[in-house]
Amino acid sequence: MRIDIISALPDLLKTPFQTSILARAINKKIVQIHVHDLRKYSKNKKQQIDDYSYGGGGGMVLMIEPIAKCIETLKKERTYQMVIFMTPDGDKLSQKISNQLSQLKNIIILCGRYEGVDQRVRDLFIDKEISIGDYVLTGGELPAMVLCDSIIRLIPGVMSNSSCALSDSFQDKLLSPPIYTRPASYKNNKVPNILLSGNEKKISEWKEKEAIKRTQQKRPNLLNDE
Ligand code: ADE
Repeated sequence: MRIDIISALPDLLKTPFQTSILARAINKKIVQIHVHDLRKYSKNKKQQIDDYSYGGGGGMVLMIEPIAKCIETLKKERTYQMVIFMTPDGDKLSQKISNQLSQLKNIIILCGRYEGVDQRVRDLFIDKEISIGDYVLTGGELPAMVLCDSIIRLIPGVMSNSSCALSDSFQDKLLSPPIYTRPASYKNNKVPNILLSGNEKKISEWKEKEAIKRTQQKRPNLLNDE
């Protein structure tokens, strides 16, 4: 999979891809990440990419020309299945959306900044708008990272234990059951005996029961959602 990220602050997107599982996925060539500095597509010397909002109102707005130029340049080079805009008024990111996106070959992610982008960018270039939650951040870079992380870990070969991603919370509309590691007893707080029993069938029954119990307690809406 190839992900092209367009950003006014590309430095923000560097380190998360340089460590751990995401870095490994890139090194193994399972995924390619290309970060594009929006300023490089500005048509003036000052590398201006934003301007005042028509009709007043506070804050600056990302202009259409640099974004259009960047997206059009990329689209000339290959076919993209989806151009995504990170914005707090988009569809709320879910495991279902991440699953769908992880099947695609090439996607573009546009990060918003300042007050947002010129509406014509959304009208002309964007296929899908995604929010990571009902709160407003200073820009779309961190949300883009969240999206990339949630997609990339689902691509086969990225996680060392392939069954891992499939048993995630939300994957089957259930939260994950409690998990434990050594020591088996910590200040008299013991790991449930069943997990130490070695009886695979009983363990998997226990895990399912606990997953349902936890979902009922913490997120009962997941059990009723379509
Ligand atoms: N940009 C700013 N806030 C955001 C959010 N919550 N989700 C996606 N993009 C954003």
